[in-house]
Amino acid sequence: MNRTVLTSVARAMVSPGRGLLAADESTGTIKKRFDQIGVESTEENRRAYRELLFTAPGLAESISGVILYDETLRQAARSGERFADLLSRQGIVPGIKVDGGTKSLPNFPGELVTDGLDGLAARLAEYHKLGAGFAKWRAVIDIGAGIPSRTCIESNADLLARYAALCQEAAIVPIVEPEVLMDGGHTIERCEEVTDAVLAEVFARLAAHRVYFEGMVLKPNMVVAGAKCAERASAEQVAEATLRCLRRRVPAAVPGIAFLSGGQSEAEATLHLDLINRAGTQPWALSFSYGRALQASALTAWRGVTANVAAAQREFAKRARLNGLASLGKYEPTLEKQAA
Ligand code: 13P
Repeated sequence: MNRTVLTSVARAMVSPGRGLLAADESTGTIKKRFDQIGVESTEENRRAYRELLFTAPGLAESISGVILYDETLRQAARSGERFADLLSRQGIVPGIKVDGGTKSLPNFPGELVTDGLDGLAARLAEYHKLGAGFAKWRAVIDIGAGIPSRTCIESNADLLARYAALCQEAAIVPIVEPEVLMDGGHTIERCEEVTDAVLAEVFARLAAHRVYFEGMVLKPNMVVAGAKCAERASAEQVAEATLRCLRRRVPAAVPGIAFLSGGQSEAEATLHLDLINRAGTQPWALSFSYGRALQASALTAWRGVTANVAAAQREFAKRARLNGLASLGKYEPTLEKQAA
């Protein structure tokens, strides 16, 4: 394991004022996003949309890394330059989603387990050659009546740890993503209880598999009330509960925590991150790794029309900039009203 490389890439991924763009939507997921704006999900449209994102002016000021999907890592800009090279040249680390998606967990109705360990060592070696500096594996924990079960939490945590160990062996920084879903009618208290139990198990398994904490990035959910819960939590409550959970469960050796947005609106995800960073100095950098909360406005502005590319890039650059500020605790909601 090359600890020097792992440490320096992990630190670069959470360097001050910057965060990650999750552009690793699988072919199925990007189709859903394109359906919403009436764009056909062809390989060329997916390539053109990703080129729009990766060539947005000023991107590197607030984006430190981009998570790609297998197809995108192999694609190039119209100029012929491979996306991985185009990003690296701007000082942005290219990364790759390596999990195989979620499957039903047998004997546990309604619960999911992420697979993709088969052949992973060989895939990681190839991705490293293609220029990937980090990888992502997303585990999903749902909250509902009688769930999550211990078996679901333990299985997903162990798989995350085995994935992380394989990544580090291949000189690739693992993003460890245990996502407690915000769908459902649960309260913020219930989300905190489950997130706490999940993080405790994840770090126990990471330690058991001898994962090098200095060379990884955690990608957790924020602690929020379920989307269907009538009792809404304030942004201050979200920030407090999220920090309480992380301070109890995440070792100080981990260089950074990059939150997922998980269905929060763009402005909500930015405000929450900002409040989290205003609460004082923490052992780790607290940043973002947003998909929907960085891309929603850009997608709507684009609609698959070439003439809209510049406007869509401005929307995307604005969201990236505001989240960069939030990662320093320097965002103001009034900035939302400024032109992109
Ligand atoms: P969202 O920010 O849209 O939740 O996506 C982040 C991600 O990469 C989920 O795996």
